Amino acid sequence: MAATSVQVAAIGGNITPRMAKTSDPSSSHSNPLGDELRATRAAKPCVLVIFGATGDLTKRKLVPSLMGLAKDGLLPPGFAVVGFARRAWSDEGFRTECADGVRQFGRSQTPECFDALGDAFTFHQSDFGDRAGYESLKKKLEQIDRSRGTAGNRIFYLATPPSSYSAILQNLAATGLSTEKDGKFARVIVEKPFGRDIATAVALNDQVRAAFRERQVFRIDHYLGKETVQNILALRFANGIFEPLWNEKFVDHVQITVAESIGVGSRGGYFEESGIIRDMIQNHLMQVLTLVAMEPPTSLTADAVRDEKVKVLKAIRSFRPEDVDSNTVRAQYTRGSFGGEEVKGYKNEEGVAAESVTETYAAVRLHVDNWRWARTPFFLRSGKRLPRRVTEVAITFKQPPLSLFDGGRWQTPNVLLLRIQPDEGVALRFGAKVPGPDVHIRDVRMDFRYGTAFASESADAYERLLFDSMLGDGTLFARADEVEEAWRIVDSIVAGWKHSARRPEEYVAGTWGPERADSLLGPGRTWRKP
Ligand SMILES: NC(=O)c1ccc[n+]([C@@H]2O[C@H](COP(=O)([O-])OP(=O)(O)OC[C@H]3O[C@@H](n4cnc5c(N)ncnc54)[C@H](OP(=O)(O)O)[C@@H]3O)[C@@H](O)[C@H]2O)c1
Repeated sequence: MAATSVQVAAIGGNITPRMAKTSDPSSSHSNPLGDELRATRAAKPCVLVIFGATGDLTKRKLVPSLMGLAKDGLLPPGFAVVGFARRAWSDEGFRTECADGVRQFGRSQTPECFDALGDAFTFHQSDFGDRAGYESLKKKLEQIDRSRGTAGNRIFYLATPPSSYSAILQNLAATGLSTEKDGKFARVIVEKPFGRDIATAVALNDQVRAAFRERQVFRIDHYLGKETVQNILALRFANGIFEPLWNEKFVDHVQITVAESIGVGSRGGYFEESGIIRDMIQNHLMQVLTLVAMEPPTSLTADAVRDEKVKVLKAIRSFRPEDVDSNTVRAQYTRGSFGGEEVKGYKNEEGVAAESVTETYAAVRLHVDNWRWARTPFFLRSGKRLPRRVTEVAITFKQPPLSLFDGGRWQTPNVLLLRIQPDEGVALRFGAKVPGPDVHIRDVRMDFRYGTAFASESADAYERLLFDSMLGDGTLFARADEVEEAWRIVDSIVAGWKHSARRPEEYVAGTWGPERADSLLGPGRTWRKP
């Protein structure tokens, strides 16, 4: 494929433009991994319309990420942002808020980037349910195409409460804004949560499909935008040594942990409705699991990768209600201390019912019923108010058949640890001889750290996902069937908890969860305490 050279300049002119090579832009579904390849891809001109532009996500994540892309020279030459929300903000007011967001939350503090981009940001005041607001948006977008060279391409970002999706999708369809014609693209990015069970996810997928085709739809799970999550595929399929061991013959079990040290804070009301199983396990942990467990895809195109991920989910057994208690543990944090400071128990948090049974911690044993993983359990756990914020995957290998060392007492298994955050990297734990005349074994680590191995700073996950949506590359977004399969599994757990007479366990804030979680693993296995 002939590579041509084009200049990708950040709009506004003050930012040092970078040269980026591009191959045939229509082939943007090709290999999405790696900085080398990323630089070979260039986004086409477009307008990003953010529904919910006065909200927290826009300020905290979206605008700072756009500035990160501008800083790296990845925004297309014709680019604009239209903020859509109900508040009576002026263009100037919107820009001031955005600049503030960049100052507070931007990578490397890049407010000066915003000065250069500022006039590409405009505000459109309307209620999501008001058709006239979309008619006037359409006119505004056409005018922006003329003034800023955005070429009729649109991306609609639903940064809104899920209750607003339906009105927005219907209005986009009714006004023709979701229709692609004359080679111009119209795409929609949908935030999590995507439904609260399989029925609502299917209904939402139906609504999305009434306005957009699947290839126009980008369902965000920001975990997939993390470099270290993408590195799971690179580690497995760019190397020859791991894959032969990556199966039930050699792997004893897999632990996937997403731990948060924060409590529910001001989101108590929201959390009461979701719990950790819906908030974290259905999306982030399931996505990580699919990347760890999937078969090698035939290529790195979006559908080849997602087909393999869906096969993993389909192979995971749903639970019968009576099996849920023996395969899961749920719990709530009680009062405890962090760094010497007293913190509240969950039931005392704002917006939480005194008799709440919502879980702030869950651990689950999943069985992937396929040839590769039939006898290897996957243990997933996530919780709030755990001692550290950490996300990791621990692949624990089986013991050698005979223990020759330390009188047969050397029993520590090899662990391949994929550290997703913080302290991103990969470590291998193995036994080594302690120097000296006697033969004693101790476990040691071989450690790769992203921060020291690569000089470049990792982009925020939202940067990567916004950029991929501009390219039309859906590899790192969840497909409709993935979301529904993940809900099937989670729904069976939630149904079992409803059916169970067992109340959630308790754990003291600042500890690694309830004791019963250890028994879930079975004899000889322990949860890692990162
Ligand atoms: N915040 C985060 O860090 C984060 C992280 C991950 C996922 N998410 C997801 O992202 C989405 C947005 O979250 P958020 O925290 O940004 O929400 P938020 O702060 O509550 O913002 C909601 C936005 O929607 C607008 N809005 C609501 N109803 C409207 C209506 N009828 N007409 C016009 N505008 C309306 C609000 O505009 P007005 O204020 O002008 O009324 C506001 O701009 C949610 O789905 C959330 O789950 C958020």
